[in-house]
Amino acid sequence: MSAPDAPPRPATRSGGRLVVLVSGAGSNLAALLAAHDRPGYPARVVGVVADRASAGGLELARRAGVPTAVVAPADFADRAAWDAGVAEAIAVFRPDLVVSAGFMRILGAAVLDRWPGRVVNTHPALLPSFPGAHAVRDALAFGAKVTGCTLHVVDAGVDTGPVIAQVAVAVEPGDDEAGLHERIKVAERALLVDWVARVVAGGMRVDGRVVTVG
Ligand code: GRF
Repeated sequence: MSAPDAPPRPATRSGGRLVVLVSGAGSNLAALLAAHDRPGYPARVVGVVADRASAGGLELARRAGVPTAVVAPADFADRAAWDAGVAEAIAVFRPDLVVSAGFMRILGAAVLDRWPGRVVNTHPALLPSFPGAHAVRDALAFGAKVTGCTLHVVDAGVDTGPVIAQVAVAVEPGDDEAGLHERIKVAERALLVDWVARVVAGGMRVDGRVVTVG
């Protein structure tokens, strides 16, 4: 006798409040900030959380008048305390959707259990190929001819969550890591802005590995 299938998770229809998590320059954040000024865009960035005070994304947020918070691991006693601190920093902004956009840390249960199925991440490769922090370098080293970017639901693993959307980017002869990453990021920003809007406007259902939006 086979075990009954787990019941599908209910569709998430989020309102448009986005909290964006950043570690670096924040070009993905900039794309969302630009989008939220467009008439008819269904989402807006209401808070930005960074794991380091030097993250360029913080300055982008401030210039856009968006409140920020910094949760540096060094300011917390241990990993569990940091996880809880990240969840609290996000919760202050009452998000409908949490967007990890270049946030270079693994999110813990304190975040994932508080917003189940409502935390998404953008990754610069076609998952499940090349997970982790060096996706572009790894794709080049492997000799891949096509790579790209993935928007996925975050689960407890490293870039293992169900895929929402992907775009392919060709690897050109002579590409180096920086040049290829820049081309991927052009595709990544468009993918992120487009699919965040679709998730917010239409809702998202996650059945096992399969994500349905709208
Ligand atoms: C993006 O390619 C993201 O997927 C990766 O790091 C990059 C961050 O870029 N994890 P930015 O900070 O949004 O400019």
